Amino acid sequence: MHLSSDNLYFELLPAIRGIFLQSTSVTVNLTANESSNNIAKTKNAYNKWKEKRSTLNSIYLDNSLSVSQVLAELKVFESQLTPEQKKLPSFIFIQNIGLINVLPGTANIKEENDDFSIPTVKKPLEQKIVLVTGGAQGFGEGIAIRAFKEGAHVIIADLNEEVGNKLVNKYNIEREMGNRMMYFYVDVTNEESIKTLMENIVDNFGGLDILISNAGVLRAGGLDELETSEFDFVTDVNYKGFYLCTKYASLIMKTQNQFNSSGYSDIIQVNSKSGLQGSQKNFAYAGSKFGSIGLVQSFALELVESRIKVNAVCPGNYFDGPLWSDPNNGLFVQYLKAGKVKGAKNIDEVKRFYESKVPMKRGVGIDDVMMAIIYAIDQRYETGQAIPVTGGQIMK
Ligand SMILES: NC(=O)c1ccc[n+]([C@@H]2O[C@H](COP(=O)([O-])OP(=O)(O)OC[C@H]3O[C@@H](n4cnc5c(N)ncnc54)[C@H](O)[C@@H]3O)[C@@H](O)[C@H]2O)c1
Repeated sequence: MHLSSDNLYFELLPAIRGIFLQSTSVTVNLTANESSNNIAKTKNAYNKWKEKRSTLNSIYLDNSLSVSQVLAELKVFESQLTPEQKKLPSFIFIQNIGLINVLPGTANIKEENDDFSIPTVKKPLEQKIVLVTGGAQGFGEGIAIRAFKEGAHVIIADLNEEVGNKLVNKYNIEREMGNRMMYFYVDVTNEESIKTLMENIVDNFGGLDILISNAGVLRAGGLDELETSEFDFVTDVNYKGFYLCTKYASLIMKTQNQFNSSGYSDIIQVNSKSGLQGSQKNFAYAGSKFGSIGLVQSFALELVESRIKVNAVCPGNYFDGPLWSDPNNGLFVQYLKAGKVKGAKNIDEVKRFYESKVPMKRGVGIDDVMMAIIYAIDQRYETGQAIPVTGGQIMK
């Protein structure tokens, strides 16, 4: 079998994960080192390996098969495993490709017809594969950490390699639920970079369940102030970046769900209250966020038949995050210097002015955003929505 990397990462591996997901939560990874390649090279080498490991679940598939024949063989293989065997890893050797490991997780898959149970009984993120773009700091960091603590495999994808790696090193050692956190570099404005990110994810996990498209930037300024290059920059990251991430993430999700008839996937964009209401002298940002809601609704319609839900969460201002509170160039400092809040003498007064605009008298927190994300994932009967998380500031 001669596969392109597109066949491998967007078809074969997610399909294998989909097949095994039908009975248990699994991750899939590819091992293509010298020793596994030698075993995969010939049926004889595999038989020798197998002789000593007769109790392991394994199968050998030679390269005369097409992708669809390989998948048909694997469906039969999976269906013949006993429930006990399904709790153990499976080793799939494919000639010319190497060893594909199928590693069962610990979570129970909820049956479609299960009686209703309150969400705290089942953790909706446990053993899910969750990608958070812009996950190195701010909302993204908070979402990534919370998802990891809920038992998800988390991929932090960000421009900032140093901070991303630091986070992964910190949290990966604390894992208690057999889940993993990994960092990969990405520039969400660059198609090749996103494709490479997706290939890395499938190489290590075999698929993708949830995309949190969170990477975003803001450049404020009125029509007479903002440079066209700044407008392009904001549009590229917030709007085009969301489109590109969805384009490649949905390829993986579609294949996975095609082979797992009860599977659902989620794409969630971290939008903003500025995607629901115009923003004074902040049109580049508001436009990118309004536009993204158009993408959310359109993607939702297109992907619903693949059981991929697409929603946005629209937080109000995160006053405690770096965008607002950075002591050097946060918005509070900028607004104080620019005299934007009449009579304000210090940062606290600027902050209080903005808090007083919110009916609930505080800025949004990461837990508030996370609750909305969990709702969008756990709710199976909704897609294409923009969920406000604004303390009553925006009412739709
Ligand atoms: N901070 C707020 O008050 C607020 C309110 C509502 C919505 N939001 C939205 O939440 C999201 C996160 O905002 P934040 O305040 O946490 O931002 P932040 O600036 O604190 O973090 C953004 C992260 O995205 C990364 N990033 C930027 N450009 C990237 C690119 N091209 N490719 C990959 N990664 C990139 C940065 O390195 C950074 O780690 C954004 O979409 C933003 O619009 C923020």
